[in-house]
Amino acid sequence: MEGKKERIVVSGMRPTGKLHLGHYFGVIKNWLNLQEEGGKRFIFVADWHALTTSYTNTEKLKENIENLMLDWLACGLDPDKNTLFIQSLVKEHAELYLLFGMITPKSWLELNPTYKDLKYNLLKLHELKETFRQKVERLIPLILEGLEVKIEDKEGFEEVLKEQLAEALIQALFEGKIEGDLLKRLNIDKKLLYQIDTYGFLGYPVLQAADILVYKGNTVPVGEDQLPHIELTREIARRFNRLYGETFPEPQPLLTETPKVVGTDGRKMSKSYNNAIYLSDSAEEVEQKVRRMVTDPQRVRKTDPGRPEVCPVFTLHKLFTDPQEVRMIEEDCREARIGCVQCKKILAANINAFLEPIRERRNYYQSNKGELWDIFREGSKRAREVASQTLQEVREKMNLPQ
Ligand code: TRP
Ligand code: SF4
Repeated sequence: MEGKKERIVVSGMRPTGKLHLGHYFGVIKNWLNLQEEGGKRFIFVADWHALTTSYTNTEKLKENIENLMLDWLACGLDPDKNTLFIQSLVKEHAELYLLFGMITPKSWLELNPTYKDLKYNLLKLHELKETFRQKVERLIPLILEGLEVKIEDKEGFEEVLKEQLAEALIQALFEGKIEGDLLKRLNIDKKLLYQIDTYGFLGYPVLQAADILVYKGNTVPVGEDQLPHIELTREIARRFNRLYGETFPEPQPLLTETPKVVGTDGRKMSKSYNNAIYLSDSAEEVEQKVRRMVTDPQRVRKTDPGRPEVCPVFTLHKLFTDPQEVRMIEEDCREARIGCVQCKKILAANINAFLEPIRERRNYYQSNKGELWDIFREGSKRAREVASQTLQEVREKMNLPQ
């Protein structure tokens, strides 16, 4: 051994619905690459995290968990090479979460950009903020006039004022200080606003820190949006180590260049845009979705030369078609030698060829659900063995009785 630390990978996913190609190339593919390397991997269904935002409707939770398990095994995640498990079956996550709650300053959570972002996204507040910004704009000359001071970078200062006034209004909204028909007029879901104004939602990243550190994870493959959570995990680890002695590593995010997968309409593939191709789609569904895809809008007739660089069909070809054929399609499109109908047929066939082994494995586990659950129950047991050792150490260091 050259003294290098063993790589311990921890990653989770919320069970919120079936996976699409965007998830595959964004997350799953990284996991598949990692499983061929050394070290340990803990990969889990983050069902408690799903509850932080969706605790009011849990009817579909179990179904969503099972679907995620199916999707993972269908993709080829190997239960012998990874510890695959369900978060809520490993109660040690909750115990460590509670103890971390004791040492985490409230402000770290309130200032967490992901917290704000998620809140903004869920409530579609970005638009509202823009409206607020426009509304307060008119007030700014009045404020500056009232101040009777000379301001150096007037434009910059005006921008700061505008931003902060708009923010203050948003904050007032969260604190329930804005009443009347404004919320209704702005189409803001008041129920959701109060629904996520909980202790659990604020504590989301503390739970995530516990998820990672309970296995002393040092590597966390995540998307860019998760970086603030990893940073917070590092801060919690540092604070714990300082208070009670060296215990936890400071985990590093593992970002991989993930191509943004475009959906059938050319925007980023996403369930909410209704433009996704799911890993569980049938061959016919894939063909139909691809047939209806947006192409180069300027190419009306087959004799018009096309522009592959603006065509989402071409963007997907780059993921599913071999490079030599991609080059041919590119040329043929530019010179109007290939029609969009045919081009799409090739793409659909290639996506289906890619999905076929995934479908096969999915079918297998669909008809062997006992085996599916055994894999995740067994994995949860194995995870628990590791997690309980960490907690033993933590309790000792914090002088809790054993
Ligand atoms: N917050 C992550 C997401 O929304 C899911 C998650 C929960 C996670 N716990 C984790 C990811 C621990 C990595 C490590 O995608
Ligand atoms: Fe897009 Fe293919 Fe049509 Fe060219 S031929 S515009 S790449 S669908």
